[in-house]
Amino acid sequence: MASSKNNPENLVSTDPSEINRYLKSGGIKVCVIGVGRIGLPTALSFAYAGLPTIGVDINTSLVQMINSGNYPLKDEPDFDKIFENVIKRKLLVATTEISNAVPKCNVIILSLPTPMDKNNIPDYSALVSVGKSLNKLLSKGTIVVVESTIEPGFVENELISIIEGNDKRLKAGKYFSIASCPETANPGEILHDFSAVPRLVGAIDNSTAKIVSEIYKHVFGAEIIVLPDCKTANAAKLTANVFRDINIAFVNELAILFENLGIDIMKVLEACDKKYNFETHYPGAGVGGPCLPVNSYQILNSARSMENNGLLKIIRVARETNESMPYHVVELLADALNEVGKSVKGSTVALLGVSYKPNVKDIQLAPAESIIRRLDQLQSIVKIYDPYYQSTYVYSHKTEKSLIDAIANADAVIIVTAHNEFCNVDPSLFVSKMRTPVIIDARGIIDVHAAKKAGLVFRGIGRGGV
Ligand SMILES: NC(=O)c1ccc[n+]([C@@H]2O[C@H](COP(=O)([O-])OP(=O)(O)OC[C@H]3O[C@@H](n4cnc5c(N)ncnc54)[C@H](O)[C@@H]3O)[C@@H](O)[C@H]2O)c1
Repeated sequence: MASSKNNPENLVSTDPSEINRYLKSGGIKVCVIGVGRIGLPTALSFAYAGLPTIGVDINTSLVQMINSGNYPLKDEPDFDKIFENVIKRKLLVATTEISNAVPKCNVIILSLPTPMDKNNIPDYSALVSVGKSLNKLLSKGTIVVVESTIEPGFVENELISIIEGNDKRLKAGKYFSIASCPETANPGEILHDFSAVPRLVGAIDNSTAKIVSEIYKHVFGAEIIVLPDCKTANAAKLTANVFRDINIAFVNELAILFENLGIDIMKVLEACDKKYNFETHYPGAGVGGPCLPVNSYQILNSARSMENNGLLKIIRVARETNESMPYHVVELLADALNEVGKSVKGSTVALLGVSYKPNVKDIQLAPAESIIRRLDQLQSIVKIYDPYYQSTYVYSHKTEKSLIDAIANADAVIIVTAHNEFCNVDPSLFVSKMRTPVIIDARGIIDVHAAKKAGLVFRGIGRGGV
């Protein structure tokens, strides 16, 4: 990579106090590998901050969409305007050719998927494959930043040696450097989170941590939290998400107890929320998405070698609880149908929402899948409506075009996702359209008194005594 007054030849050896000059002149070139849910908004942010950015992805149609000015993340508000701006100014281009991008760039950001396999073992194959390519393509002085969520120690124990390979020149800390900035943004709110949520930065040396911190401060304007190393940054990311998984499991278990005790969990949580050191989590149909469930299994994988000590039992049990909630939803359904003299077998059940979280189009590890599979097993007639999946096939079922189509002549409705469209439905609409007015609210969004007044047979997770 040739240097000029405005472009650092070797970013690794650049004095951190010089970085701002390069940032202001747009002299630092960035490559984001993996331009999906997180990588594309990341690439857009770097480009919008004036740094020429190349997005690399193996998904040819995604690359074509980006280059033809067609914004792909329709459920990520406000990035569309940034997208239009940077594409017009040619500050962002996309390519499938990693070899055309990496050698030209000073910073390589890895925003690659880190899912798990069917045995819940983390799958880092995308990072491993790209790491091997970097071995052949990295220019001297490049900084690699891993934004993907990984187990503590993966960078230090595996990724560095994959990138170095057998090439004696390619030493981390000398020829290139590496940092971890695990991404913590929430789908549907990424633009807000990028500037509002502090960024975690850990690196293999202080100088790299300083350089990366300067770059991230310039691009995102968020508070930067510098951690001692990559593994501590990744541990912080996982700890925050596993904390949520465990607390949701706790309220899910309480919810089932309170149903039996005739107690409404919402009243309990409202009261607890008044105490300064309580953090409210809500019960629900389960915990899905590419983060929380995977992150719990990542930390369990880290503790695998210490299994005999019984370490982290709490996470394993929390996962079991959260994974059992879809079956509890079907039990509530059976109970409510029983009240109107029907059984799950042969009943028409309208499922509202398949996304794992409200107002986004994403069904990765969504609890809806287990509910649908169970209803199929029990021979219900399943109808699905989700405003983000209309007239397409999801879990082998054709989805409905509208809420009305879904609930028409249904024997029961299950609200699985709290999409905005489902939050303000007048309960009398269900009563007027359904064959039998049974509603299971797995997300606590229905006004129970209005529902009962309208004549709905109501069940909700944790809603004892209502
Ligand atoms: N989605 C979230 O809510 C979220 C939030 C925080 C962190 N994360 C983490 O960010 C990382 C990325 O997640 P995501 O949700 O953006 O995933 P994603 O699946 O939406 O995007 C990943 C992209 O990488 C591409 N890709 C896969 N293999 C590749 C390869 N070898 N070379 C180039 N491109 C390749 C895919 O085609 C895809 O476009 C994961 O580690 C995830 O855990 C995700």
